[in-house]
Amino acid sequence: MPQLGTEIDATLQRAAQLAGEYLAAHHGHEVPVARAVPPAELTKRLGLALPQQGRPLSELITDMQQVLEYSVRTGHPRFFNQLFGGFDPAAILGEWITALVNTSMYTYEAAPVATLMEVELIRRMNRMVGFERGEGVFAPGGSNSNLMAALAARHRAFPHAKQSGHRADDKPVFFLSEEAHYSVLRAGAIMGMGLDAAVEVACDPQGRMRPDALAAAIDRALADGRTPFMVVATAGSTVAGAFDPIDAIAEVTEPHDIWLHVDASLGGSVMFSERHRQLMRGVPRAHSVTWNPHKMMGVPLSCSATLMREPGSLRATNAMDADYLFHGKSDACYDLGDLSLQCGRRVDAIKLWFSWQAHGHDGFAQRVDHFFEMSAAFRAELEARDGFELVREPQSTNVCFRYVPPQLRALAGEARLEAVGACTTRVRDLLTQQGNFLINYATLDGAPAYRMALLNAETSESDTHALLDEIEALSADA
Ligand SMILES: Cc1ncc(COP(=O)(O)O)c(C=O)c1O
Repeated sequence: MPQLGTEIDATLQRAAQLAGEYLAAHHGHEVPVARAVPPAELTKRLGLALPQQGRPLSELITDMQQVLEYSVRTGHPRFFNQLFGGFDPAAILGEWITALVNTSMYTYEAAPVATLMEVELIRRMNRMVGFERGEGVFAPGGSNSNLMAALAARHRAFPHAKQSGHRADDKPVFFLSEEAHYSVLRAGAIMGMGLDAAVEVACDPQGRMRPDALAAAIDRALADGRTPFMVVATAGSTVAGAFDPIDAIAEVTEPHDIWLHVDASLGGSVMFSERHRQLMRGVPRAHSVTWNPHKMMGVPLSCSATLMREPGSLRATNAMDADYLFHGKSDACYDLGDLSLQCGRRVDAIKLWFSWQAHGHDGFAQRVDHFFEMSAAFRAELEARDGFELVREPQSTNVCFRYVPPQLRALAGEARLEAVGACTTRVRDLLTQQGNFLINYATLDGAPAYRMALLNAETSESDTHALLDEIEALSADA
């Protein structure tokens, strides 16, 4: 057993020192974003076999160094690959405390401080989206929050399903845009309706759901004897960063009394910004919202709020009233367990609360505005350079583009699209192999395009220019 105050102290102090050095190294660009080591080789280098006998705590510092060495540095200024990036010392402190107090979010009794923090955060986030009386709970990611919203929508339309499942004449159907996140589609499969219960609605050229197409799709479903129970609008789509027009969508859903869910996993944070919150105009008309602080707010994964306009929605959908856990005490209204799909639930509130203390509302607003400014500057840089083409008119922090190298510029039509798409994936592979940048791609309009996610507060303009320089250079022979 490690001795309190000696081995533990010394090891944790060394670990904290290494953590500081690890984060500092990103800034000098002294280290790559990632080391592209194939799984078999990495397994060999790491030596992952589990020992029969335990090892001294202090020895694990070497293992920590290995983990840091071979993990992708998502805090690196040149990490553009996911819808998160950078690092937040206050949130890391919150994570550390979370592990230290190691509790579970089902009851106030087990997690008094974290419960009150979660209640405060949910109240604030609800107020920001315009849910004055709302309720909510944290979930392990945007996909789970979307599922919880779908379950609540289903419970409202088909309350019998909780006890006895669906009836033959229920014929549930729900609607999402063709650029919505796949977790929304999958919710239909998880809920036992099948993927056929989902109708994908056409988008405009910027990737926003078309309200006229939604109205027509709902009419068709009704004519077929189906029961529309939910429409999912996306606020900040995964690839293009597009915001569906919530107000116009609510005009379509309200006459039919259909549950409107807004998947603002990415975009919810625009509510901080006076300049950009208009992108979510109409959100108080929604019944539920998913908002991920682990994306634009830079809080470590995972941290996702499931917000409901009407109090009682989550409890009615999910409560099982387990007697061994929930003892109906005077503070039982603070027992969040029955709002959730989980029993034991990781504490995600402490790190967000710490982060909010460090940044304040205004700091988060500046952060969001900064990302939008970076996105506008990046777009301008693309336009200033030969051969770069926007694939979608950017609406927020994501910029989707292709690069047409000089040797492909004489091509036209399909042949050009195919060649440029193939060049994109080849260059992206080379970039990943080199490890100095990490940027993702996705298929848009029939061919791969780079998806630049400008969500990393560590990134500077010179990092984004260096990326474009490298794409130009590597495309010359790709
Ligand atoms: C719009 C949108 N919704 C939901 C999700 C899923 O979130 P998570 O990865 O936290 O499950 C994502 C992920 O990128 C997303 O972009």
